[in-house]
Amino acid sequence: MDLTRIRTQADYDDAYRRSVADPEGFWAAQATGFTWKKRWDRVLEHDFKQGRTQWFIGGSLNITENCLDRHLATRGDQVALIWEPNDPQEPAQHITYRELHARVCRYANVLLRNGVRKGDRVCIYMPMIPELAVAVLACARIGAVHSVVFAGFSAQSIADRILDADAAFVLTSDGMARGARKGPVKGLVDEALAGCPGVKRVIVARHTGDPVAMQAGRDVWLHEELAHVDADRPAEAMDSEDLLFILYTSGSTGKPKGVVHTCGGYMVYVDHSFRNVFQYNDGDIFWCTADVGWITGHSYLIYGPLLAGATTLMFEGIPTYPDAGRFWQVVDKHRVNIFYTAPTAIRSLMAHGLAFVEPCSLASLRTIGSVGEPINEEAWHWYKQHIGKGRCPLVDTWWQTETGGILISSLAGVTDEKPSHAAWPLPGVQPVLLTPEGKEIAENDVEGLLAIKFPWPSIIRTTYGDHERCRQTYFSSYPGYYFTGDGARRDADGRYRIIGRVDDVINVSGHRFGTAEIENAINESDFVVESAVVGYPHDIKGQGIYAYVITDRPVTDAEAVRADIVAMVTKVIGPIAKPDKIQFVSGLPKTRSGKIMRRILRKVAEGEMSSLGDTTTLLDPAVVEEIKAGRM
Ligand code: WTA
Repeated sequence: MDLTRIRTQADYDDAYRRSVADPEGFWAAQATGFTWKKRWDRVLEHDFKQGRTQWFIGGSLNITENCLDRHLATRGDQVALIWEPNDPQEPAQHITYRELHARVCRYANVLLRNGVRKGDRVCIYMPMIPELAVAVLACARIGAVHSVVFAGFSAQSIADRILDADAAFVLTSDGMARGARKGPVKGLVDEALAGCPGVKRVIVARHTGDPVAMQAGRDVWLHEELAHVDADRPAEAMDSEDLLFILYTSGSTGKPKGVVHTCGGYMVYVDHSFRNVFQYNDGDIFWCTADVGWITGHSYLIYGPLLAGATTLMFEGIPTYPDAGRFWQVVDKHRVNIFYTAPTAIRSLMAHGLAFVEPCSLASLRTIGSVGEPINEEAWHWYKQHIGKGRCPLVDTWWQTETGGILISSLAGVTDEKPSHAAWPLPGVQPVLLTPEGKEIAENDVEGLLAIKFPWPSIIRTTYGDHERCRQTYFSSYPGYYFTGDGARRDADGRYRIIGRVDDVINVSGHRFGTAEIENAINESDFVVESAVVGYPHDIKGQGIYAYVITDRPVTDAEAVRADIVAMVTKVIGPIAKPDKIQFVSGLPKTRSGKIMRRILRKVAEGEMSSLGDTTTLLDPAVVEEIKAGRM
C-alpha cells in the first residue's frame, strides 16, 4: 500500500492521527519517494516565537530533478504541459516530459551564460506562455531564486519588487495577448528599469512579435541566446532550506512583502497535497486556471502537477474570450479531468447563463476545485450542478501564499464536502480557532480567528530581507501559533468554513490587496488629501474596492477626478486594484487619537447604515451623517 496516498475516509482518519501523533515520522515517510542527492539528517526544527521553521535539515535535492528527470524513464513521452493559446484558432502546444526537460536545461544554460548564479534573485514578468513555466524551472534548476511578478502589475510594482529582492536579472516577453487585446510587457519592464540600476540583464522571449526597444548591453533575445547552448544541464544541489522562490503578497500594512519558500519542505508538501486533494490518478489532465504570477499557479500549475508526473494545462487567455464558453470548450478540447478555478470566474460565467455551458459535454471532468476566496452557496451549487454535473466532487481549498500549499479542503470523493465549507484540515495541519484574546476555543459550532498550531513543511520561512516583519506579522499576535489573518467557523462536526479576512486585507476577485497600499496609491493623485479604502460585498468579485476620498479643492467635475484617481492606482499598482466606487467626503470618521474608524466606513459601504454602533468617541460625529448621505 502507498502510505503517501489517501484513498478512503479510514485512510484519512489514520493519516491525520499519525500526522499529529508523529509529525516527523509522517513527513519523513512522505519525503522518501523523492530523489534526494543527500538524505536529511533531521526532519524538523522550529521555534514559533521567532517564526523560524526548518524541514529536512541537512538534505540536498533539486526540485526540477523531481519534476522532470525522475519521470524521464517512465513517462518521457507523456505530455507534461499543454499550452492553450489566447486565440482558439491558433494551435495548442503539447510538450512532453522529455521536451520540457530539454527546454528547461537549455534555458538554464542561457541563464548561466548571462551571468546568473546560484542564490541570485531573478524577476520573471511574463504572460501565460510556456516560456514562463520553463523560466521558473530553469531558475530552480541552477539554484537561482525566482520572483514571479504577475503580468498585470504596473511598472512601479515591478520596480518595487526588483529593488526589494535586489534582483539583477529580469526574464520577460515582448508583449501579451489577452482576449481581444494585445498589451505591452517588455515596455513595462523598460519603464520599471529606469529606477532599477542594479539590473544587469533582461532576457526577452519573442511571443506576440510586437516591436520592442532593446537596450544594447542589457537586453538579449531568448531565441538568439538559445542558439548558443545545449540541453545538458545537471540540476544544482540545493540544501533543503535554500531559497526556492520569493513571491510578493499584500498584508495589512506597508508595501507587499516577499514571502520566501525553500526547496525541500515546499516540494514534499505541494506534491502530497496535489495528489491527495484532487485524487490525481496517473494519466489525468489537470487544469489550474490561476496565473503563474500567484501562489496557486506556482504550486498547482507548475510544481505540484509536475512532481506528480501529471499533464498540466496552461491557458493564455481569459474565460470570456471569444465567448463565455471558453473554459468549457477548453475542457472538452483537451479532455480535462481535474479543473481548478476561482469563485470569481464561476460567478462571472454564471452571470452569462447556461447557454455557454450546454453545448459542451464536460464528460471528461472527474474533480472540480475552487480557491482564493470564499465560494458563496449559489456559486457552489451552480458549479457543482452545471459543471460537475452533480457527479464530480467539488474541493473548496483554503490556503495562502504563506502556506505554500492547500491546508484545509475536503479530499475529492474521499472526505465529505459541504457547500461553502473548505471542510477538513489536511494531514499534518493543526488548525485552531482563537478568541480575540488568543484563547483556543475547544467546542464545535463556533466562530473564531483561524490559526495553526504546528508547522507543516511548506510554511513561510521568512519575508525576504526582513525576518522581523515575518515574525511580527504571523507569529506575534498570538504567541505559539501561525496566525492566518482569516476568521472561520467550525461546524458541529468539525468542518471549517472560512469567513474572510479579519485584518485590513481585501480580496478582490481572489487577488489580495492591503487597504493601505491602495490608499497610498490614491493619495498620489494631485487632487487627493487623504483617503480610506474598505472592501464591500460585490456580486462577481467577492469584494469590491470602496474608496472615501478627501480632495484639496471642491470637486466640480467628479468624473474627471475619479478618472484621475483610477489612473493613479493603475499606474502605481495595476488595473486590478482600481477602486469600484469613489465617494468624495469632507472628512473621515476619526477617533480623538486620530485613528480612522474603518468599521463605520465598512458598514456604510456595505449599506448597513442602521447599525453603525457607538459613534460617540468620534472627533466629529457629524461627518458620519454626511458619509451616509453621500453613499454610492
Ligand atoms: C482567501 C491564495 C475562503 C483567504 C491561495 C486567504 C479563501 C487568502 C480560500 C489568501 C477559500 C483563499 N475560501 N477564502 N477556499 N482560499 N482564501 O495569498 O482570505 O492569494 O487568507 O492565496 O485568500 O490569498 P493568497
